[in-house]
Amino acid sequence: MLDIAAAHVRAGGLVAFPTETVYGLGADATSAEAVARVFAAKGRPSHNPLIVHVDGEAMAEGLVERWTSDARKLAAAFWPGPLSIVLPKRANVPEIVTGGGASVAVRCPDHPMTRRLIERAGVPLVGPSANKSGFVSPTSAEHVRREFEGAMVLGEGAGPGRPRPRSVDDILVLDGGVCSRGIESTVVKLPVAIGDGVRVLRQGVISAEEIAKVLGRSVEDAAVAARADEERTGGRDSPTGVTPLESPGLLDRHYAPRTPAFRFTASQWPEVLEALLDLEGEDGSEARGVVLTIGSRGVPVPHVRMIMPEDSRSYAARLYAAFREADELGAQAIYVESGRENGDPIWAAIADRVRRATAALE
Ligand code: TXA
Ligand code: MG
Repeated sequence: MLDIAAAHVRAGGLVAFPTETVYGLGADATSAEAVARVFAAKGRPSHNPLIVHVDGEAMAEGLVERWTSDARKLAAAFWPGPLSIVLPKRANVPEIVTGGGASVAVRCPDHPMTRRLIERAGVPLVGPSANKSGFVSPTSAEHVRREFEGAMVLGEGAGPGRPRPRSVDDILVLDGGVCSRGIESTVVKLPVAIGDGVRVLRQGVISAEEIAKVLGRSVEDAAVAARADEERTGGRDSPTGVTPLESPGLLDRHYAPRTPAFRFTASQWPEVLEALLDLEGEDGSEARGVVLTIGSRGVPVPHVRMIMPEDSRSYAARLYAAFREADELGAQAIYVESGRENGDPIWAAIADRVRRATAALE
């Protein structure tokens, strides 16, 4: 199975692979032509750079100008794991990978199947989340199969009748089970010149504080800083009265279900109930709302309640699958209870994803 996948990668084809965070849409990172197929399949804007997945530090070193002592420390502490490290790229990394930029993000994923794939292919793999641009990241092989027409799943136990790619345009999916972490890696940009700071560009399960501890210096959380900026610029109200976003505007809608989604916190529960009544009232239709609640809350029929876990790790692992299931119910609106922001970095990363999923449509 891995041989088929590795050969497809070497031929320039796409192989979706499992990681501990979400499934990635893989292609040979050293081939501009293969990487172009990834952008095309996802409908991704060409300026948005891709993370390059490696099987270990040695491969990462070959992709960046200098594998700095900060990088060494972070790799020793967190790899394989959900941390993408951004450093100036070497010339062998095609510009299409970095969206024309001078830096590349590298990450060694914590999934043995994918590290073996990289080893066998003998090349690093670009790997954006294996979903259409802007929508929910996949956390199972089945999610990926549904996302891309004609995608073929290669299972661990697949017998002789297993599918084989017929052309380089086929998308293969390696089934490595359900992703254990469920939200995307933390992206950290490391300093290159004296005086540069360390910046977390995207929150994930590894927090700025944990990175600061390992590096022995302060780390700026750019996501938090951007939000603080937005809060100063004020918010908008959703049509249903539940504020979809504390601070809409600059944050892109991303990681989003196809159904309009609204975020709420525990204290806004009465407003959600009112919003649900409004949904019922429209044209006597069967329009339903789906509510993702933390723990149990009474949700009146015909609306659907999906109970989310109360601990942050399990909530994160479940979130995107819940978005997809909610979408499939064909509801008019999805209401998402996001976690308590109690200093737990995983709740903070969850809140970040829910904010983006519920950002007002432009
Ligand atoms: O957990 C993950 O990171 C997953 C799995 C498959 O590894 N991948 C993933 O990739 O989430 P993607 O493309 O969906 O998100 C990558 C994020 C984007 O926000 C992108 O802008 C940022 O990382 N990024 C990638 N390369 C970068 C670079 N050179 N400089 C700054 N940001 C970069
Ligand atoms: Mg993505």
